[in-house]
Amino acid sequence: MSAYRIPFNKPGLTGRELSYIADAIQRGHSAGDGYYTSCCHDALRRELGCHRALLTTSCTHALEMCALLLDVQPGDEVIVPSFTFVSTANAFVLRGAKPVFIDVRPDTLNLDETLLEECLTSRTKAIVPVHYAGVGCEMDAITSVAERHGVNVIEDNAHGLFARYKGRYLGTLGQLATQSFHETKNVICGEGGALIINDPIYVERAEIIREKGTNRSRFYRDEVDKYTWVAMGSSFLPSDLLAAFLLAQLERYHEIFSTRHRIWQAYAEGLCEWAHNFGVSLPHIPPHVEQSYHMFYLLMPSLEARTGLIEHLKSRDILAVFHYVPLHLSEMGIRFGGRPGAHPIAESASNRLLRLPFYNDLTDDQQAEVIEAVRAFQC
Ligand SMILES: Cc1ncc(COP(=O)(O)O)c(C=O)c1O
Repeated sequence: MSAYRIPFNKPGLTGRELSYIADAIQRGHSAGDGYYTSCCHDALRRELGCHRALLTTSCTHALEMCALLLDVQPGDEVIVPSFTFVSTANAFVLRGAKPVFIDVRPDTLNLDETLLEECLTSRTKAIVPVHYAGVGCEMDAITSVAERHGVNVIEDNAHGLFARYKGRYLGTLGQLATQSFHETKNVICGEGGALIINDPIYVERAEIIREKGTNRSRFYRDEVDKYTWVAMGSSFLPSDLLAAFLLAQLERYHEIFSTRHRIWQAYAEGLCEWAHNFGVSLPHIPPHVEQSYHMFYLLMPSLEARTGLIEHLKSRDILAVFHYVPLHLSEMGIRFGGRPGAHPIAESASNRLLRLPFYNDLTDDQQAEVIEAVRAFQC
C-alpha cells in the first residue's frame, strides 16, 4: 500500500495465520463465536486475568457497546481526552451524550488526572482514559476520583494490550475496557477489537448487546431452548476467520513484544543525544509503568520543525506521520463548544508529534537508516 521504501507501518504476520484461517473454514463455522473466537476469549481472559473478554469487530464497536452497557442517554456527559482518536468520543455521541474534553499531561500525553474534578458534573456518566502509545494513565488517581463521584471508568486501551500500570495489566483497571486489533496495532487481525469486562454485572447484557439484542449466547450454552429478542443490541461479533487470524498472533505475543521492545530501545538510544541537542522530547515512560512498545514518537520543538523532518525523511523514501487532530478543534468538537486554546497541551502535541516507522519486520539496517536520517536533520 505504501509507496515508501521504509513505510510507516507494515502489518506483521507470525506464521500460522493462513493455516488457522483455512482450518476455521474447514470446520464449517465461519460466522462469529466459533472455535477460534472461543480460543481467543480464553487466551485473553487467562493472560489478562479479567472477568470476561468478548471479541468485537473493532475497538470502535467495543466502545459503542460500552455506551449501550452504561445506558448512556441524551444529555449525559462523558469525559474524554482531547488528544485521541474519534471513536473514544463518537461512541458516546451516537447515544446522544456530550463529550467533555479534557487536556492531557505534557509528559505522557495521557488524560491529565489533576483536571478531572473540574470536569465532573451531576450528568457525568463515565471517564474514558486513553493509554496513549500503550503507556498507562495515572489510574490510581483516575479511579479514585471516579469512585468518589460514582461514575464508571472505561479504559480505551487500543494501544496498550499487555502493558501494565503498577504491575497490573492495562484494561483490567476500569469497570470496562476496549482493545483494538486493527492492522496498525501490535496484535492484529485486520479489523478487530475486544470488550474487556472487569465488573461481572455487565457480562449478561454485553452478550445480548453483542448478539443483535438476542440471548443467542445463552442458547449456544444450552441455557435456554430457543433464542429471541430481549434487549437493544447490534451485530458486534467478528467472523471466526478473523478470530483464527487473531489467535495466531496472540499465541506469539511474547515474540511480538520482544521484537517491538528491541526496536523501541534502539530508537531511544540512537536518538537520545540528537534529541537533547535540538530540544526534541522523546516518549516519557513513568517508572511504575510497563509500556506496550506500540509506537515511537518525537515531540519536535515546533510545527515547522515537524513539517521539515517529515519532508526530510520523505526525501530519503522514509515515511513518518503525525497523529491526532485534537478532538475539541475538529468540526464535530467545535459543535460541542471546542475552541482554540481550550486544551493547550493537546494542541501543542498535535502540532509537534511525529511517529517514526515502527513495525515488527523493520530490520536493523532499515532502522539504522531511519536513525541516521533523523540525526542528519537539524531543527
Ligand atoms: C485511542 C484509540 N481508540 C480507538 C481506536 C479505534 O480502533 P479500531 O480501529 O479498532 O476501531 C483507535 C484507532 O487507532 C485509537 O487510536
